[in-house]
Amino acid sequence: MSKLITVLNGPNLNLLGQRQPEIYGHDTLSDVEAGCAKVAQEYGLRSELLQSNHEGVLVDMIQKCRETSAGIIINPAAYTHTSVAILDALNTFDGPVLEIHISNIHHREAFRHTSFVSKRADSAIIGMGVQGYYLCMHRMGTLLGQSA
Ligand code: DQA
Repeated sequence: MSKLITVLNGPNLNLLGQRQPEIYGHDTLSDVEAGCAKVAQEYGLRSELLQSNHEGVLVDMIQKCRETSAGIIINPAAYTHTSVAILDALNTFDGPVLEIHISNIHHREAFRHTSFVSKRADSAIIGMGVQGYYLCMHRMGTLLGQSA
């Protein structure tokens, strides 16, 4: 069975495509799911995309990844800037963790300039739109895939 990459998304990303499209663009989370699956397949990997608006649910999802997943791509959304619980959960995961932000958080309000998750993330892609998810998946392919 091929390795699974989990693409985790935090609050309000269920509204991707409708929510502030001038910042986050017009693609939906379903588009991102399909795009990630396509790239994963190129490397002989599988991907699943999960989303929750709730911090504890995201912690549960990360804990489950300990048993199911070889790598995590995470856009923690607003919890990026606040959640020690998500950082702690990621610290229990042994595989690669890649952080992605659709917007350039450093061009935005000061409260978005800090990322707790970056303390654990092996790499981060910021401000490249939803293409950042696909670039992260290519990186997972390099780290964990069978062929490029
Ligand atoms: C975001 C940036 C966060 O500051 C914001 O709260 C989000 C999305 C991004 O992908 O650009 O919800 O993580």
